[in-house]
Amino acid sequence: MHPDEVVQIMMDSKLLGRGGAGFPVGKKWSAVAAQPGDEKYVVCNADEGEPGTFKDRLILEGDPHSIVEAMAIAGYAVGAHIGIIYVRGEYALSIARLRKAIDDARGYGLLGDNILGTGFRFELEIYRGGGAYVCGEEFALLESIENKRGTPRNKPPFPTEKGLFGKPTLINNVETFANVPPILLNGSDWFLSFGTAGSSGTKVFSLSGDVANRGIVEAPFGVTLRELIYDFGGGIKGGKRIGFIQTGGSAGTVLSDKYLDIPLDYAAMRAYNVSLGSGVVLVASTDVPLLPFLAEVAHFFRHESCGKCTPCREGTLQISAIMESLVNRTADPDALHRLGMLLNLLSDTSFCGLGQAVPLAFESALRNFRDDFENALAESHVPEACEEV
Ligand SMILES: Cc1cc2nc3c(=O)[nH]c(=O)nc-3n(C[C@H](O)[C@H](O)[C@H](O)COP(=O)(O)O)c2cc1C
Ligand code: SF4
Repeated sequence: MHPDEVVQIMMDSKLLGRGGAGFPVGKKWSAVAAQPGDEKYVVCNADEGEPGTFKDRLILEGDPHSIVEAMAIAGYAVGAHIGIIYVRGEYALSIARLRKAIDDARGYGLLGDNILGTGFRFELEIYRGGGAYVCGEEFALLESIENKRGTPRNKPPFPTEKGLFGKPTLINNVETFANVPPILLNGSDWFLSFGTAGSSGTKVFSLSGDVANRGIVEAPFGVTLRELIYDFGGGIKGGKRIGFIQTGGSAGTVLSDKYLDIPLDYAAMRAYNVSLGSGVVLVASTDVPLLPFLAEVAHFFRHESCGKCTPCREGTLQISAIMESLVNRTADPDALHRLGMLLNLLSDTSFCGLGQAVPLAFESALRNFRDDFENALAESHVPEACEEV
């Protein structure tokens, strides 16, 4: 196939990026292909820092060749000769299997110079991440590969125009890349036959928490939480009831069992204010108290905020303090009002997706479990101020 045909098939498949934002893959590939010159990069985002997500690890461990193949295809389609896989530092087994897959591919002439006699050359390297959540954000990830501190850059220009070392760069998630070889092998119509009208194909969900069977589940878009939790997950351990469900990860939504029958696809997610994110489905039984869980989420963001912009650096600190005070029943009467203001501030003014997504968990929890917050406030006693010295 001509590179343009490869890009066209990706367009026709309507594959959406599986890293969280759901950006159309064909559009991204064609934007990089349209850039002049042949100094371009293909990057695989295998940082997988979202708490509760482990799907990329299992893809990398189970079928690393699919990523090697997809990245070489992507390089051919967009006109790049170097690919870099940015892997979460803790994923030692993924890295070992990727190394072997890359060496094997080189041995078979599927990487290197003149691949399969086509004249096309493509090399792959692995970059081991240092463990910062923000380095999953595409620009922070590129800064990290450039051996700088991993903080986001201003957009635009987007990586497709000015990415790694200032050159056009295609960045896709592991699961996104894993979809590429079967789409090219079977055609876009085959791919469109799975899923729903706006969300083609399947999604890999990381199912965890109080379900009987934990693990990854690959199901067509349109599957419901009820099917994931009860059919694939075997229900709640010990026959207990659902307390809450976190979808999309810490940067996602906290839902009640009212949401069990919503078809999981991008249109429904938008309509019902539900986050799909990277595909986390974390289930908590009624034994798990919600507010300490949310305090832990707040602590995570406070720890992972890179500190570059004030709303996120200071806001995550204050959200964490308010959540702690609700848990300890020491919240002041104004706590929920201040929490609401901080959530608005973070979503409106944070510099990157990390700070912008912090409010999702708390806003959705306030919508679906308002009583938990109100009760904690009603039971709170503000400790007497320390004597001034
Ligand atoms: C704070 C933050 C962390 C992110 N972490 C990841 C990650 O671990 N893996 C990933 O693929 N995308 C992550 N993303 C999304 C990437 O910025 C980017 O959108 C994605 O890699 C693009 O790939 P896709 O189009 O195939 O989804 C993160 C975004 C933000 C804001
Ligand atoms: S929103 Fe948070 S993570 Fe993003 S640049 Fe600002 S401080 Fe850093």
